[in-house]
Amino acid sequence: MNKNFNIKTNENMKITKALPELPFQKNALHPIITEETFDYHYGKHHAAYVNNLDGLIKNTPLADAPVEDIIKTSYLQGNQNMFNNAAQHWNHSFFWHCISPEGGKTPEGKVATLIDRDFGSFENFKNQFSETAIKLFGCGWAWLAQNELGKLEILPMKEAHTPLVTGKKPILTLDVWEHAYYIDYRNARPKFVESFWEIVNWEFANLNLKLNE
Ligand SMILES: [Fe+2]
Repeated sequence: MNKNFNIKTNENMKITKALPELPFQKNALHPIITEETFDYHYGKHHAAYVNNLDGLIKNTPLADAPVEDIIKTSYLQGNQNMFNNAAQHWNHSFFWHCISPEGGKTPEGKVATLIDRDFGSFENFKNQFSETAIKLFGCGWAWLAQNELGKLEILPMKEAHTPLVTGKKPILTLDVWEHAYYIDYRNARPKFVESFWEIVNWEFANLNLKLNE
């Protein structure tokens, strides 16, 4: 395992209220995800969530709160607009680390062990996760999360929803909003999901498990 890679990932994962830098060049995942998609998905959509959130929290008691607290508080208070923008900012910041030009192949380390334990095999897990991502109706996210007992679960979550408000810990996610794939795959979400396995950042998944220990 490349220690430097982990340290860098860890430092990058302090999610602030600003638009984070991408952990790779915008053309690094071509052709699986093209630079044009990052121009829109990161440069327009993610940036818009950040700008919207900035406007929504200004002069409120949450102005100086960490993003995670804004997500939980707005969720509990039923402030849908603030929740959507805060959660989408967090989810995207997390998602950029779930994909990597050095990713793909099969998982190693603790995530591989837990996948085998909780899903029977990597193939079973891959099939279940893919099916969840493909079948999620409308827009949303397929999450791999760790529950209170340490067990891995696949969670389909609509729109901006995130395991953060369920007490479960995010390990990995795949954005299946149309804006994530429409430029490169048009309406073919299954092809996008299939391609995801070629760029999954398993080191990041392992780091997230480590932080939960
Ligand atoms: Fe997105």
